[in-house]
Amino acid sequence: MLTQLTVSNLRNITKLTLEPISGINLILGANGSGKTSLLEAIHLLAMGRSFRTRSLKNAIQFEQQQFQITAKTSAEVPVGLQYNSDGLKIRLNRAPLKRLSELAMQLPLQFVPANCHQFFEQGPRYRRQLLDWGLFHVEPSFNSHWQAYKKILQQRNSALRQHKPTSEIQLWDAHLASHGEVITALRRQQLEKILQQFSVLFARLCPEFSGAGFTLKYRNGWLKDLTLEQALSGTIDRDKQLGYTRSGSHAADWSFKINDADPVEMFSRGQQKLFFLALCMVQAKMADDINQDRSILLFDDISSELDQQHQQNVMKELIQLPIQTFVTATDFALEESEKTKVFHVERGELR
Ligand SMILES: Nc1ncnc2c1ncn2[C@@H]1O[C@H](COP(=O)(O)OP(=O)(O)OP(=O)(O)O)[C@@H](O)[C@H]1O
Ligand SMILES: [Mg+2]
Repeated sequence: MLTQLTVSNLRNITKLTLEPISGINLILGANGSGKTSLLEAIHLLAMGRSFRTRSLKNAIQFEQQQFQITAKTSAEVPVGLQYNSDGLKIRLNRAPLKRLSELAMQLPLQFVPANCHQFFEQGPRYRRQLLDWGLFHVEPSFNSHWQAYKKILQQRNSALRQHKPTSEIQLWDAHLASHGEVITALRRQQLEKILQQFSVLFARLCPEFSGAGFTLKYRNGWLKDLTLEQALSGTIDRDKQLGYTRSGSHAADWSFKINDADPVEMFSRGQQKLFFLALCMVQAKMADDINQDRSILLFDDISSELDQQHQQNVMKELIQLPIQTFVTATDFALEESEKTKVFHVERGELR
């Protein structure tokens, strides 16, 4: 977890040092004061990228040349990141970072954006990413299968694009299928585990659904009842026409159903927000079970879409979790305690 965070020249933050606690860190401030920018800084540090922009240039404070973010962690591993016209430089434990996955291992992070109620309207890619991100932290073999799968898929697609003979394209199928089947099994297993904890947590966040039944809906990404290898072989003509491999683990999708209905069809926006939050809380908890005292959860804008009662429910559940949380709000009444600390931000500075 982060014990100290220093941000310089990022958006409206010229220089700010924060000493967060291991429980809930509530960041309060008016619109435009720099709350989301602080979360962006933590996200950058843990993931090596921003959730707000693809071009990090936009995050550098106007009229400055670079931004810098440094942190101390409870594991005594210093992390530092700097971005300027030479690019992004990250240092982990006083040495240049080799792979972003090392960073992600150090600081497993779940991010709940202000517009997270749109989760179910966004495409399957977003839902797969959320699931795979959780798996990456709890199932060490997942990443190697996924990396191998992606590489083989690229090669198969390249053969398709180059109109190679069918036999040459199909050289990849057995390998692709073997990784794909493992990925599918791991994803299903993870979702079953999430679902168990999710239904309990969601009922507490949203008591109006406490009697509801939740079920898992998972689509493999290829025709049901076939193995992936059979599916690939059955759709080779279509793939040759398309110039890419349409079926496989890269086309999977999932959701939970409530009393057999789709959340997007029946949930209010606030309920959709709580749904997404509960998913992230469960995944953060699962990552913490593996790697204690490391999970971080960022929750931007607790006050949007949620009424007072549901905000209080959220806080009550967050406090119970053994993770470090950063929550932003324009306004929130919270008594400070051992497990809660309040920071007031004003024009990019701590008040
Ligand atoms: N590159 C930049 N340089 C300087 N200021 C910037 C830059 N990019 C954005 N800003 C400003 O930084 C401020 C902080 O924005 P931020 O989104 O963090 O506010 P916030 O506290 O989350 O507000 P809200 O409650 O509306 O979500 C805004 O006023 C924004 O206009
Ligand atoms: Mg904001």
